[in-house]
Amino acid sequence: MSVCSFCFWTKLISDLLLIAENPCKAMPLDFVFVIDSSRSIRPNDYEKVKTFIINLLQFFDIGHNATQVGLLQYGSVVQPEFSLNTYTTKAEVEEAVRNMQHLATGTMTGLAIQYTMEVALTEEQGARQMSLQIPRIAMIVTDGRPQDTVEEIAAQARQAGIQIFAIGVGRVEMNTLKAIGSEPHSEHVHLVANFSQIETLISVFKSKLCGDMCKVVEHQCQHICVSSPSSYRCKCRKGFTLNPDGKTCKGESLSSSFNR
Ligand SMILES: *[C@@H]1O[C@H](CO)[C@@H](O)[C@H](O)[C@H]1NC(C)=O
Ligand SMILES: *[C@@H]1O[C@H](CO)[C@@H](O)[C@H](O)[C@H]1NC(C)=O
Repeated sequence: MSVCSFCFWTKLISDLLLIAENPCKAMPLDFVFVIDSSRSIRPNDYEKVKTFIINLLQFFDIGHNATQVGLLQYGSVVQPEFSLNTYTTKAEVEEAVRNMQHLATGTMTGLAIQYTMEVALTEEQGARQMSLQIPRIAMIVTDGRPQDTVEEIAAQARQAGIQIFAIGVGRVEMNTLKAIGSEPHSEHVHLVANFSQIETLISVFKSKLCGDMCKVVEHQCQHICVSSPSSYRCKCRKGFTLNPDGKTCKGESLSSSFNR
């Protein structure tokens, strides 16, 4: 049996146990919504995007020491609505989302990603220090073809430690979404047929956002990653001990099992 088929099942079982134990254990994030507000989005679809955002907020524990949320919309220009450090309660964030006005202009997705990296997800705007290992997340919701290039700037943003979720609605090219979103794409890239379908993603994000740090950070645990509310730790399988790096495991039982 390959080592990894075992670690896959171990991880899956520990994930499932965690989700069962903790329906929604809030985990601190620095989370910026990047919302396409282009002309092609009809007014009632724009309302559906707001509903989607508000429904996602239910999984967040919003506060300065918990999850901070920022939001920007973009069309031909980037329009910041609020920063990570603007609001400290969920009610304020929800109200600001309800009050957003549709820009109904172009689709400068690359520009919006650049703004997210250079302004919205920086310490000046309230992002916590990198050393605290609080995930920096951008969730991009778009319905069309960008008018500028996205590949390079999205790669730079990911390189800078931003985890990007790319959600496409309608006739968005999968390749564009993949050029934007983080790896693995199965976790970060989602395409739905229309704005009515965007609600189906709520259950997908519930499991990601609720209590499982191991799913949102690049944990690098060799064997098992165990989530805790604002952090995670690595564990080793039976018969192994964790090395001082806190990630890799050494197999003490190896010699005894061969020396019989
Ligand atoms: C946030 O955490 C810091 C450091 O742990 C603490 O000093 C501060 O009082 C906390 N603030 C709130 C509002 O809980
Ligand atoms: C949205 O897409 C779904 C799945 O393809 C389809 O069943 C539904 O009729 C569409 N709704 C609208 C309003 O177009």
